[in-house]
Amino acid sequence: MLTPAENDFLCNTDVGTPMGNLMRRFWIPALLSEELPGPDSDPVRVTLLGEKLIAFRDTDGKVGLVDNYCPHRRASLFFGRNEECGLRCVYHGWKFDVNGDCVDMPSEPAESNFKDKVKITAYPCVEKGDIVWAFMGPADKMAELPHMEWMDVPAENRKIAKLVYECNYIQSIEGEIDTTHAAMLHSRLDSEEKAATATTLGGRYQYKDKAARFFVSEKEHGLLIGARREAEEDSYYWRISRWLYPFYSMIPREPHGTTRLGIWYPMDNENTWVILVLWHKDRPPTDDESREIYACRDLIPGTWYPKQNLSNDYMIDREIQRKETYTGIPTDSGRAQDSAMMETMGKLIDRTHEHLGTSDTAIIAMRKTLTKAARDLEEGIEPYAATHADVYKVRSGGAVLPRDVFFSDDKEVLDDITVA
Ligand code: FES
Ligand SMILES: [Fe+2]
Repeated sequence: MLTPAENDFLCNTDVGTPMGNLMRRFWIPALLSEELPGPDSDPVRVTLLGEKLIAFRDTDGKVGLVDNYCPHRRASLFFGRNEECGLRCVYHGWKFDVNGDCVDMPSEPAESNFKDKVKITAYPCVEKGDIVWAFMGPADKMAELPHMEWMDVPAENRKIAKLVYECNYIQSIEGEIDTTHAAMLHSRLDSEEKAATATTLGGRYQYKDKAARFFVSEKEHGLLIGARREAEEDSYYWRISRWLYPFYSMIPREPHGTTRLGIWYPMDNENTWVILVLWHKDRPPTDDESREIYACRDLIPGTWYPKQNLSNDYMIDREIQRKETYTGIPTDSGRAQDSAMMETMGKLIDRTHEHLGTSDTAIIAMRKTLTKAARDLEEGIEPYAATHADVYKVRSGGAVLPRDVFFSDDKEVLDDITVA
């Protein structure tokens, strides 16, 4: 349970809030590179952390991310002309480059130097791993771009999906690090019966023991989360995932060797941008391994909103619920079942009414760790991970281990169990 004040502290990332300040110490994925397909392509509306912005790619291929509102009389630059290394407001013709400098002001006399005094908010951008990243914090606190394995693999070895969850980003992250739900929410009515012949460790053991024990340790990147379930008489099944500052999760995928990163970052306080990245370090993920990514790409054309959504009750089929699956929400990956739970809690949960149990250990730890980082920043203590890119070079995994072996956070052991 959180008090209203604690909940607001955790969930509110608007300009000037403590959590908003913490988020702005990290690089934010603004949009996919492919959304700005070439020089002088169409400008794109992007809302990040409650700020309405416009992204554009200039004549030289450089990406700009500027305030939506023209500093002259506040017209929207979405309608701007993207021309000759700048975005020109169509109202009176003021033109801005990717750095936010006003480079032309045809509505003022030629001898005026007013143009040199006007700037528009512009955030620095870099492109890496098919994503345009923006830094929205103070210039003298510039972060390092997190160094994750998927950024270094050939493009064909990673697959990316982007969509929107219509709820606060903390709800989205909590849904991700809560592994306990998989044995219920994502199950079929015969999952337990078929467990003995399942080909994945999750399929074999997560239905047998629905009350995983959680072991959470704080790391430089965030949290390492071990969920332990009964396996055979002499062994446990360990499912090992991570939460990484400030809005990433890494959960294991089977067969091990592919890993999936979730990026759950605020569009505003009531909507979350979701980017999922699946990769294999040596080869392209197979179609079977990519099912979740493909399912997440099933969107309303021209939008980032899933076809299965709040407005159609996620296409629940009560007949299927009676006879085949636990939820009756059709899915090829669990995605629609997850968002049905996240979004129908309300856009921003009132956490005074919740009752957390032992299965919520990782969620409680994430809230505490993130809150502490924001409080530390208020005291002048900068977040370590923001300027230490290599702490992000980790994976998730799973293994069946003898009962007397504790899942380890020792790097070598973890490498052993994360690589197929
Ligand atoms: S409002 Fe943009 S140039 Fe006047
Ligand atoms: Fe799920």
